[in-house]
Amino acid sequence: MSSHVLQADKSVVTTSVALVSALALLATVLFLVAALIGVISRVPADDGSRKQVAVIERIKPVARIATAVPKPAGEVKLTGQEVYNKVCVACHATGVMGAPKVGSKELWEPRLTQGLTGLVNNALSGIRAMPAKGGDPSLTEANLRDAISYMLDQTGIKADATAK
Ligand code: HEC
Repeated sequence: MSSHVLQADKSVVTTSVALVSALALLATVLFLVAALIGVISRVPADDGSRKQVAVIERIKPVARIATAVPKPAGEVKLTGQEVYNKVCVACHATGVMGAPKVGSKELWEPRLTQGLTGLVNNALSGIRAMPAKGGDPSLTEANLRDAISYMLDQTGIKADATAK
């Protein structure tokens, strides 16, 4: 084989490599364009709110102080009713071990003299047969307060009447 033929072979190889690369590039570009069109066509038509959002963005204060305390991961805000159903119901629905029963005003009333805060504190630390936080250490003070308010509410006692 003469060096000329070799040269020609080489250039054929180079050309096909270039061609394949170009095709691959073209395919990639077409794929991206198709994907982009897909995304664009899924964006709903502007009903004027986009401009409004843009205006709000433009006139919003430069800095904002973050007042929200970041929650620890996984924490979910439960309502008083949810906390009650999850934990407190075990004892306070039937009144086992002398737990003041939900619905029984005469059992709750003597305890109300200490106010909601007093009740919350005793639920936090536990009192006699009542375990701290009802036995669920994941509960927060707010959870207990909400759950107690819920129990009082279910008993027909206005929680704010006990506010102290
Ligand atoms: C394992 C049973 C049990 C569970 C669960 C339980 N409690 Fe109690 N709780 C008691 C008992 C028993 C008492 C009465 C204690 C006493 O005064 O001798 C009581 C009393 C209380 C009182 C009255 C405290 C006071 O100062 O008189 C509050 C408020 C209370 N529980 C809230 C809760 C809340 C809120 C939950 C759920 C988060 C809960 N409890 C879960 C057993 C339980």
